[in-house]
Amino acid sequence: MKSPKTITICMGSSCFSRGNNQNLKIIQEIISGYEGIDVQLSGALCQEQCSKGPVLYLGDTMFSCVDSSEIADLVETYINS
Ligand code: FES
Repeated sequence: MKSPKTITICMGSSCFSRGNNQNLKIIQEIISGYEGIDVQLSGALCQEQCSKGPVLYLGDTMFSCVDSSEIADLVETYINS
C-alpha cells in the first residue's frame, strides 16, 4: 500500500497574506477530488522562511514562492507520484 501523501502549508501571517490563503483553498478543492488516495493536509506555524513565502511542503520537500497559478500543477503531480 502506498504511504499517505502529506501536504503541510505555512499558515504564518506572512505566508498567509502572500498567497497561502488562496493556495489553501485550491489544495482543499484538489484533495476533495481524490477520495481514493490518502492525503493528509496540515497547517504549520511560521517556518522562518517568510522572505521566500508563501512556502509549503509536499512530503518533506519545501517549495517557496508558490504562486496560486502553479499550486494546482504541483499538488496534482505530487499526489499522482
Ligand atoms: S509566515 Fe511562512 S515562513 Fe514565515
